[in-house]
Amino acid sequence: MNNIVKPDTKDRFEQLRTPFYYYDTDLLADTLAVIKQETSKHEGYQLHYAIKACANPKVLRQIQQAGFGADCVSGGEIKVCLENGFPANEIVFAGVGKADWEIELALEAGIQYFNVESIPELEVIADIATRMNKVANVSFRINPNVGAHTHANITTGLAENKFGIAMEDMEHVIRAAQSLACIRFVGLHFHIGSQILEMDDFEALCHRINELQDRLEAEGITEVKNINVGGGLGIDYNDPDGHPIPDFHAYFETYARHLKLRPGQHLHFELGRAVVGQCGSLITRCLYVKQAKAKQFVIVDAGMTDLIRPALYGAHHCIQNLSSTAPLQTYDIVGPVCESSDTFATGYELPLTNRGDLIAIRSAGAYGEIMASHYNCRELPMAYTSEDLISQN
Ligand code: LLP
Repeated sequence: MNNIVKPDTKDRFEQLRTPFYYYDTDLLADTLAVIKQETSKHEGYQLHYAIKACANPKVLRQIQQAGFGADCVSGGEIKVCLENGFPANEIVFAGVGKADWEIELALEAGIQYFNVESIPELEVIADIATRMNKVANVSFRINPNVGAHTHANITTGLAENKFGIAMEDMEHVIRAAQSLACIRFVGLHFHIGSQILEMDDFEALCHRINELQDRLEAEGITEVKNINVGGGLGIDYNDPDGHPIPDFHAYFETYARHLKLRPGQHLHFELGRAVVGQCGSLITRCLYVKQAKAKQFVIVDAGMTDLIRPALYGAHHCIQNLSSTAPLQTYDIVGPVCESSDTFATGYELPLTNRGDLIAIRSAGAYGEIMASHYNCRELPMAYTSEDLISQN
């Protein structure tokens, strides 16, 4: 019934203190292999893993060893990448609010390029680079005004979002960059949102990029070395066992078919969720089953402090009782935190559940552990890989 939890690790779960994250190393390896295979079919395709999705050191190392670069959005992420073996020249750095120390850190380390989100930011990078006697590679994040069929909080490519430079300012910023000695213009960056399952949305982005490239060429701007299309490929939260690996073939083919790369131009991707989402589960234990007037609650020892996605976005995660195969009952599955939004699911069917049962909250590898907090002075969740548990047996 559950592909993720292997029979030999299931027993080990019983001995561990819950809640904890569990990462399936084999599934991650298979996912990385598919990505490699699909990208290698196309000339110049390069993946920078979006470390914001999961920065667990063991997960990171596995991704780094598979040969991927990294996409960072803070100085902290750059440090973590460097500590975990990512070469600086394979790190790209985005974010609307880069602080001076983060820019200095990135220049000192010698990252591949900055994804610059505004003209004031370009000016600050130029000042700092001049002072440090460095040249900063910059790519401009252009807001393509392309909507995506996803949650409003994770749509980023619309004109009303805070991200990126407006399309109409594109030529102006490129020319400004080209006039600065300490700045090297290397490309354009886009990202339309996250958890996108409709390839049409990526196709719409391709058409917009084609238009913009034509416009730049007409203006005599031809030195666009890289096109970076961000991340955003979604995963199947409803059926993690049916679709443990996202459809990378369709995803990369969409770009291959619709994006007109210029000769020698590289295409960069910043996938996060699609790489790590399905390999992680949050393992928790039922503390109490509480019969209320209208409902039955399963109260588990994980809360919104361990996995905030349901509380923050109303996100759905499959939940499984690993200890029971009894007939199904309908429950609200909630955590111990003092907030009504500390709810993982309402009206959810689980086998008859008892105190002590182990519960897996699936598809939690991306934006799970990394978004954990200490609210209510709770401890951060522990994390284990399948390899850890096998080697301890
Ligand atoms: N590149 C940029 C510029 C981004 O802003 C993001 C995600 C990515 C790449 C990676 O996107 P992915 O491939 O993972 O979709 N916490 C939310 C998701 C926030 C995504 C933010 N940006 C969630 O739990 O759904």
